[in-house]
Amino acid sequence: MDLANVVPWGRSFEEYQTMFELSDDDLNTRILGCGDGPASFNAEATERGYQIISCDPVYQFKAEEIRRRIDDVYPEIMTKMQQGAGDYIWHSLGGVEQLGEARMKAMSRFLSDFDAGCRQGRYVSASLPTLPFADSEFDLALCSHYLFLYSDHVDGAAHLASMRELCRVASEVRVFPVVSLDGKASKHLDSVMTTLSVDGIDVSLQPVSYRFQKGATEMLVAKSV
Ligand SMILES: C[S@@+](CC[C@H](N)C(=O)[O-])C[C@H]1O[C@@H](n2cnc3c(N)ncnc32)[C@H](O)[C@@H]1O
Repeated sequence: MDLANVVPWGRSFEEYQTMFELSDDDLNTRILGCGDGPASFNAEATERGYQIISCDPVYQFKAEEIRRRIDDVYPEIMTKMQQGAGDYIWHSLGGVEQLGEARMKAMSRFLSDFDAGCRQGRYVSASLPTLPFADSEFDLALCSHYLFLYSDHVDGAAHLASMRELCRVASEVRVFPVVSLDGKASKHLDSVMTTLSVDGIDVSLQPVSYRFQKGATEMLVAKSV
């Protein structure tokens, strides 16, 4: 991974809760956040006493390098958000300025926690479709804003291999969103769901309360039976 191609953008614990409909029972299990990047989910969850491991290829870099990249790309992201504001529902995040503040707050929280989290093994540098975890090491794996969203960048075979890998390491996998960047259902979704089903995995789409990108209203749930 070349940091110059990374566009860091991280969400908060509260957003993860609503994107994945996380109950207290869910949060009290062994959770993997795959592709968590600079989200503050792990930092905030740890502060609340939950046990989360996050993995992401960006964790191979130092906090200072990630911070510099965030500062470099922030103005560019804000300009793009202004241009594409019509693709989003703004009632909970207010507007582009407030969104920027919320994302920066989440990313700063992540950065302050990163060194300690690496030492404690809470941030692991790893990339789908191969994860350095044992079979069924987690009860729940979450994947926010990576699989299906980047359907034009990640091909169908990589989607399937990644979902199979997540199902190997966790008994339940939740992925949000299942639309791609254009807000339409991912072109890989049907075939991945059909093949996982043939593998004997129980797959379904479930509504979530999180609202931001237009068209993103459901998560994919895959349970090993
Ligand atoms: C748009 S960000 C989402 C960050 C976070 N999940 C959130 O929702 O705030 C996408 C993340 O996917 C990560 N990513 C890219 N390729 C990956 C791979 N092969 N396996 C796991 N994560 C990957 C990126 O490094 C980045 O942190």
